[in-house]
Amino acid sequence: MGSFALVLAAGAGTRMKSRKPKVLHEMLGKPLVRWSIDAARAAGCEQVACVIGHGSDQVAPVVADTIVVKQEEQLGTGHAVMCARDAIGGFEGSVIVLNGDSPLLTPATIAAVLARREETGAGAVVLTMRLEDPTGYGRIVRDESGRVQAIVEQKDCTPEQAAIDECNSGVYCFDAQLMLGYLDRLSTDNAQGEYYLTDVLGLMRADGHDVEALVADDPTEALGVNSRRQLAQATKVMQRRINGRLMDAGVTMLDPDQVWVGPDVVVENDVELWPQTYLWGSTSVASGSVIGPNSRLTDTKVGHGSKVEETVAIEATIDDDVACGPRAYLRPGAHMCDGSKAGTHVEIKKSTVGPGSKVPHLSYVGDATIGSGVNLGAGTITCNYDGVSKWPTHIGDDVFVGSGTMLVAPATIGDGALVGAGSTITKEVPAHALSVCRGKQANFEGYAPKHWDKLRAEKAKRDAGTAGSGEAPEH
Ligand code: UD1
Ligand code: CA
Repeated sequence: MGSFALVLAAGAGTRMKSRKPKVLHEMLGKPLVRWSIDAARAAGCEQVACVIGHGSDQVAPVVADTIVVKQEEQLGTGHAVMCARDAIGGFEGSVIVLNGDSPLLTPATIAAVLARREETGAGAVVLTMRLEDPTGYGRIVRDESGRVQAIVEQKDCTPEQAAIDECNSGVYCFDAQLMLGYLDRLSTDNAQGEYYLTDVLGLMRADGHDVEALVADDPTEALGVNSRRQLAQATKVMQRRINGRLMDAGVTMLDPDQVWVGPDVVVENDVELWPQTYLWGSTSVASGSVIGPNSRLTDTKVGHGSKVEETVAIEATIDDDVACGPRAYLRPGAHMCDGSKAGTHVEIKKSTVGPGSKVPHLSYVGDATIGSGVNLGAGTITCNYDGVSKWPTHIGDDVFVGSGTMLVAPATIGDGALVGAGSTITKEVPAHALSVCRGKQANFEGYAPKHWDKLRAEKAKRDAGTAGSGEAPEH
């Protein structure tokens, strides 16, 4: 029959007190709305539509892989679904509605809600959860026989209803065409003056349709993010979930509360993650590598047996047995080949550091290709930018560059060449040559004491002149 997911993401999210639309706030590096979309896809929904409105210019590119529906004015969750009427069209099957602010929902739970409707043929199935503190959620009102009768928003609750601890998760599965028929019957006659999607369930029930509830095993799954506090709570839940799964799969963490791993990151077994480590985006770390402490890797690939300490890496590739840091900065296009090193206070951008080559201290390497077995001495800089254009540097195999050397690009240094410390290289260095470019050293024997005597005598003369003027020295 197939299923259609509808993600509601048009609300302003005023409780976030933010200039950014709520659904773009990130949990572990991924926008809230993406969590809902990706969960729906993973649950097997063939079609996914997303209702956007508030801040739609910003939200649209983030949800561009879905059927995007505009809700110009945010008149409530029921109205949001009305706006998707054309997108749903004549679709016959299950429509699963998700809130764009509930990022902890798992694909397995979405699939379970879908399965419940297919099994029972109910008009609607709602996912519910029992919460110690149900404040802010819609309450599930059941009749004497225990069947769902209606969902009542907190602001519309009688005191008795407010005491109910079973809450609406905001996840529903409807018979598509049956649900569309009920949208016309929604009204704004409620405390918030909005069209409530929740009223569809009560109306269906009153007409004698079957309305089912599925109680979530894990009540944290449907936690809604309406405030910064709830964003932090949700992040903590997901951090524990992901880190628990990684530890079960053989990853060591000194303190899992101080490791943040995004949902699309791959970490193999026998990796160690030290405190204050952030792995974001499409980062992957292969077996035997150690990351951290104090490291942030975004969209970066790390091979086997590498050690990445106090490093920030963005769109970088780190192969096997590489050493990075402490305090290395690998920018987009940095490629550290097997056995290479980017040491302390070293920045590498859009450059390849060949197998076994070392950039150990205080260097900038940009737009460069470095062969194998190269050593760049402390403070080697590729001067890749002339103020208008960027220029490349090519360094062959087995090159030794002395400390404090400027390589003014475009620069080429041939295989096996040796560059003297303190050189400023502006011309090609041929293979196997020794190249030195620095001022000649001059020594003046015994001159240092004479130099100091001269300076002190001059100062004394100036001081005497000031005292002679008869004025008090100023402080
Ligand atoms: C909603 C439910 C409540 C449930 C809770 C679960 C209703 C009336 N209430 O309340 O029963 O317990 O979710 O988290 O549905 N949105 C739109 N357009 C709108 C209004 C909202 O797209 O006009 C979107 C929001 O962006 C958000 C979602 O719908 O992603 C839910 O809206 P929100 O205002 O957060 O509803 P709650 O008050 O949390
Ligand atoms: Ca909400």
